Amino acid sequence: MRPTADSSWIVLEEGYDSLLECSRAARFAISNGFLGVRGARAIHRGGRWVANSRTLVAGLFDTAGEEPAIPRLAVAPDWMKVRILLQGEPLIHHIEDATGQERILDMQRGAVIGRARLSNASASGVKLRSFHIASLSQRAIGMQIILLEMEQGAIEVTLEASIDAVDIGLLSDRAEHGLSVWRTESSGTRLAVATAVSLQIDRRLVPSTVCGLSQWSWKWTSSPGQVICLARTVAMTRAGKDDIDPARGAQEALESAQMMGWPAVVAAHERAWDNRWACSDVEVEGDPVAQQALRFALYHLNGAANPADEHVSIAARALTGDDYHGHVFWDTEIYLLPFYTLTWPQAARALLMYRFHTLSGARARAAAMGWQGALYAWESADTGAETCPSQVVGPDRKLVDVNCGKQEQHISADIAYAVWQYWRITGDDAFLREAGAEILLETARFWASRTTMESDGHCHIRGVIGPDEYHESIDDNAFTNVMARWNIRRAIETAALLRDRWPESWRRLSGQLKLDEAELQRWGEVAKAIATGFDSSTGLFEQFAGFFTLEDIDVAAYSGRSVPIDVVLGRERTQRSQVVKQADVVALLALLPAEFPGDAAAKNFEYYASRCGHGSSLSRAMHGIVAARLGDAETALDFFRKTSAIDLDDRHAAIEGGVHIASLGGIWMMAVLGFAGLSFGNDYLALAPTLPAAWKSLSFTVQWRSRYLKIRISEPTAIVHIAMEAGDPMKVLVNGEMFTLSRVEPLQVKIKTLAGAVS
Ligand code: BGC
Repeated sequence: MRPTADSSWIVLEEGYDSLLECSRAARFAISNGFLGVRGARAIHRGGRWVANSRTLVAGLFDTAGEEPAIPRLAVAPDWMKVRILLQGEPLIHHIEDATGQERILDMQRGAVIGRARLSNASASGVKLRSFHIASLSQRAIGMQIILLEMEQGAIEVTLEASIDAVDIGLLSDRAEHGLSVWRTESSGTRLAVATAVSLQIDRRLVPSTVCGLSQWSWKWTSSPGQVICLARTVAMTRAGKDDIDPARGAQEALESAQMMGWPAVVAAHERAWDNRWACSDVEVEGDPVAQQALRFALYHLNGAANPADEHVSIAARALTGDDYHGHVFWDTEIYLLPFYTLTWPQAARALLMYRFHTLSGARARAAAMGWQGALYAWESADTGAETCPSQVVGPDRKLVDVNCGKQEQHISADIAYAVWQYWRITGDDAFLREAGAEILLETARFWASRTTMESDGHCHIRGVIGPDEYHESIDDNAFTNVMARWNIRRAIETAALLRDRWPESWRRLSGQLKLDEAELQRWGEVAKAIATGFDSSTGLFEQFAGFFTLEDIDVAAYSGRSVPIDVVLGRERTQRSQVVKQADVVALLALLPAEFPGDAAAKNFEYYASRCGHGSSLSRAMHGIVAARLGDAETALDFFRKTSAIDLDDRHAAIEGGVHIASLGGIWMMAVLGFAGLSFGNDYLALAPTLPAAWKSLSFTVQWRSRYLKIRISEPTAIVHIAMEAGDPMKVLVNGEMFTLSRVEPLQVKIKTLAGAVS
């Protein structure tokens, strides 16, 4: 139960502050992509006391009997509840006691460790240590260990471990001692929970005195220095309405964990984390704050995915909180997939398969809106149907209409983008043939039907919302249109590829989609004619038609504000201005740099960065990537630091509802795609590094078509060192010069400067 000694692997918080408990519960959440457990304190006083240890289960969606019905992640039973009474009085977390209590997120081991000295109102005390995990090696399993050391003798101690299912909103299907099965009211999805609890006093196993269906309780009289160990293992399994009873799977998982014993379960979990860290760690020398931020991001990213489940994706707050109800956005494809594709292709594949399995929902949506092909839901849950609410409470506590569900359609191109990148980076042809091609073709078909050829000879896409959600019902959003064009072109390329390399697959797929040459040709014409808003005389993209005529507001003049800029200006004025909520043209520049010829990259960055209010946690990462690629490492570092602060700094109120997993993905992207300047071509990986002055070196690991590469960029000597741990020789482009890399000899390239260029 000792935390990792190296401070760059831990997040430590001391003392107790009831106002910060909910934020800490999100920051200290543990997850394995199936179970997510918020990091509340081990000892509870009452049912809903301050912050409970809420558990979320991926894919367990329910609708709450409301109109319109919005699916939300249901809350699973709280399996970690513990109550301790000394002489009949509960233990208290004393607010003034700053040193006696600490909570540690041990990121290396994927565990939360708590230490405290707690006493009751009459000052009888215990020393407490707690430890819990959501097993990364056996995702059904959660484990909680609590060690107590009694300070006084002759105290009557009551210890109660229970599973709290009060008000969770699930229907009970079955309840036995240590086993319960629950069902969601709307979807009929079931959840089985099997639990085993044991208590040892001075290494002697003691049976519980009260043993309810979901309650275990012990009562004894203490002796000084007595040591008590409570060990609880839970196994949870989810099953669809028509699947077999999940109870059996939960019981089997529990039995196998019990046979292993908790030390072995913990050891297997730690080995699984070691493996994830070996594939994904990023090391920075010279900047401990950045190092911790990177590890924090990687910890949550590695805990958010489950490569074994193709029917769930990662929500905007992963499994760490209730904000956005567990819904999946473009966050996954644009901010998370780069990390998974390059460090954990199996997880990336499962996430993309989720989109493949929800393709019929996307087709139905396009058809319902009068278009063809597949229009993915802006907010997606279990079926692929649109789950975006039509109204929410705005930052000024007033109800505001939400049009994103109808108009934020770039999601379809974002998914196509992630599919293509995944295929190109991994070379997973089977995925392309069996799932990816269909997504590319159906999204392209949507775009082709979504555009209208008008009298000016251009194809227009009217009435959308781009990533900058401050402006609604706009025409020809540059991000949407250029991504749509790119989507169509990649689909045409995919069709040609399938026809040449896998004619049988092409015959099957084109037959199934009723896709013929004439339609492909039409797509090509649409792509050629799409309006993009690019003005070659200024080098600027106009964010949407008419944007440049809007009021130009100096965003910097509002830098002291403590609320988003649309609250300061009011919704209407914001909509009439050039103030941008989040990276829009800048996001396009980060994703498709080749669309910005000559000095257009620098010009667009300069224009749009100064008009951005960063009203979304997603925004700064895109700016950081672009700033680094443009060679401005210090500006990029500023974006990196501000993004890191979102979840690690208590000043950001919105963390209570869960960590911002997209911005955590953005932290990795800034390091690898920004500072290291990693990109790729048809048959090579490219690096164009630009390190901030404080970073003495940057090291990371990526996978490229079944090859494992370890890359280190060191600042004082300006050397790029690349070692290949597995795989065949490949080409690597370093600052514009091509090299061949093989396993026999690592590549060492001395570069003139670390200031890279956009590649
Ligand atoms: C952002 C979206 C994002 C969503 C979920 C919104 O505030 O504007 O871009 O997808 O949050 O993270």
